[in-house]
Order: sequence, then C-alpha cells, then structure tokens
Amino acid sequence: MISSAQLHLDEVRLTPKSRLADQDINKVPFGKVFTDHIFVAEYANGQWVKTSIEPYGNAPMSYSVSALHYGQTIFEGMKAYRSAKDNILLFRPYENFHRMNKSAIRMAMPEVPEELFMGGLIELLKIDKGWVPSDEYGSLYIRPFLIATDEAIGVRPSETYKFVIIMAPAGKYYAEPLRVLIESSYFRSTEGGVGFVKNGGNYGRSLYPTILAQKKGYQQVIWTDSKTHQYVEESGTMNLMFVIDNKVITPGLEDTILAGITRDTVLKLARLWGYDVEERKVSIKEVIAAHENGSLKEAFGTGTAATIAHIQTIGYNDKDYKLPAIEDRKFSPKVDETLRSIRKGRIEDTFGWMEKVC
Ligand SMILES: Cc1ncc(COP(=O)(O)O)c(C=O)c1O
Repeated sequence: MISSAQLHLDEVRLTPKSRLADQDINKVPFGKVFTDHIFVAEYANGQWVKTSIEPYGNAPMSYSVSALHYGQTIFEGMKAYRSAKDNILLFRPYENFHRMNKSAIRMAMPEVPEELFMGGLIELLKIDKGWVPSDEYGSLYIRPFLIATDEAIGVRPSETYKFVIIMAPAGKYYAEPLRVLIESSYFRSTEGGVGFVKNGGNYGRSLYPTILAQKKGYQQVIWTDSKTHQYVEESGTMNLMFVIDNKVITPGLEDTILAGITRDTVLKLARLWGYDVEERKVSIKEVIAAHENGSLKEAFGTGTAATIAHIQTIGYNDKDYKLPAIEDRKFSPKVDETLRSIRKGRIEDTFGWMEKVC
C-alpha cells in the first residue's frame, strides 16, 4: 500500500453528473477523454497555499500567464492499472515524483512536496477509480503538471504556480510496429540544455522535424546528438533499445536524454534474465553494421504511453533497414508480456513496482 499520509484538501467540489456512463473507456482514443475530476494545488508567497479537487473543465487563467509565453512548464506521465482482483495500482509512482522535482529545479520552479504529489494523486484516484480500464491493454494515463501562473510579461521566474493532475483512460498506444527515421539535421536537445527534463519546450521543438519525417512515411524520428549526428539518443516520447547478438544496448543517460522509468524497468528485467546490458554511446554506424551482419535482432522504444513500441524499419540516408519480424524477437515481447502480467497481478511483483491505491 502506498505510504503517503492522507492529504488534507481545502476544497472538494464533485461534478453533479459523471461523464463515465457516456464513454467506453476501453476504446477511447489516447489523451482525448479526461476523467470527471482534477487535483489542483496553488503556490504563492513561497509556499503551497491551497489544495482542491474540482470537476474537470477549463482553467480560469489570464492570457498573460508566464507559462504560455516563456515555457516555464513541466509535466510527468504515469499510469494506474486495474488488477485482476479489481485493485487500483500505480506503477513506480515515486520515480515520477522524483523526476518531476528534478525538472522543477532545472526550470527554476518550486519543488512539489511528496504530500501534494502522492497525496493529491491518491485522493483523485479514489474519486475517479471507475475510470481505470479493465482491458488487457487498458490503463489510466496520469498527467501531473506544474505551470507558472504570474500574470506578467517579462522573462523572470514566476512567483505563483499551479500543480495540477489530470487523468485520461488509455488503450494500446501503437497498433502496429513503427517505421522510424534517423534525424541528421535537427536535434532535440544539446549538452547543458534541458533534454533530461520534461519541459514543454522539448516537445514543441520536436514537432516540425517529426512532421517532415511523417511526410516521408515514418511515424517518428530517432534523435541524434547535436554535435555530430552520429550517435542515437531517443525517439519521440521513448528511450531506445537495441538487441545485438544477445546484448541489450541503450544510449547512456546523458543530460540530453530523459531518464525513462520504463527504460530502467526494462534494463532491470534484462539483467534479471541474464542478458548483458550496455548503457553507452550507440553510433548509427554500429546499428547499421549490426543490421548488415545479421546481429541486430530487435530495436524498440520504451515509454509509459507505449510500454514497448517495436521498431520494424529504420530509415537512414534514404535507405530503409527492415528488422526481424516481431514473432522472431525473444526479448521485447517477453518484457511486454511480463509487465502486463505484473500490472494485472498475474505474476509476482518481485521488484515491488506496483503501489496499491485502493
Ligand atoms: C522524451 C522522452 N523520452 C523518454 C520517455 C520515456 O520515459 P518513461 O519511460 O518514464 O515514460 C518519455 C516519456 O515520458 C519522453 O517524453
């Protein structure tokens, strides 16, 4: 059971009419339908001053708030699952809590206390637990975020903030294995920048190169390092992994890469199962050479939204490199199946990843 003490809420306003009955939560598109309620905590004068649970709706906010102009905005992405025994479980939520505060420090924002992050989330989940899908691939996607709310034009840290949690039922993220393009002109982040934090700007800047790749028939780009474009970094909202021979290889955690919680989870399983794991620079040359000599067995992305997204084709320099069929892959399908079984409570959670909420 989750350890945070119960949070005292200053205000609880429940919706007069739940929207749950109007939705098939096992079938809704990702990120478009939100649960009935949200959690909000307000920060002013150097402290957290108010907490509430309110009906989901439009934010009462001025067009001048600094988050909209200067990008002082960070977020997290995490999930709750409904187990076979009908319990609501969070997957490694303290990892998201710690990462959120790493982002807050880098973006000159106040850290969110555990009592608010975990306590607010638990209270919200207890109220909206009916929205957690029961399907094999279903989950409740949780989006905690922190935004600067000073009404002021001028580049300086805001003095007021809102920490908000919204939630959306989710099904399978990618229906098909991916075609990804190695990006050699644009870059997502650079050393000394903010690549390792979940700041809104990282995502805004990724859209244009991604659209260019999509016009060429790929779903996502593989970002490369900003200096040489010779080393792969990550892809979309996923970390990248390759299985070459019997080794699981992934780019090491530099400050240009987000330290994915799924990444860490997959590496822990790989080590448990006796795979050699290498966290280090991975060059495009190495990946292409492994493809050509037949030792590149698998490539996939890891992330909360998709869990495992199999990569079928890698595009580079106007050439497509097709990888082995998913049925012939040994590692990533096993990870996917194992994680679903842990989340559903079908097999023992030996790592203690699941936190029971209710
Ligand atoms: C840029 C980026 N990389 C990687 C990931 C994967 O991280 P996680 O496994 O914690 O979801 C995400 C998603 O949060 C992301 O936005």
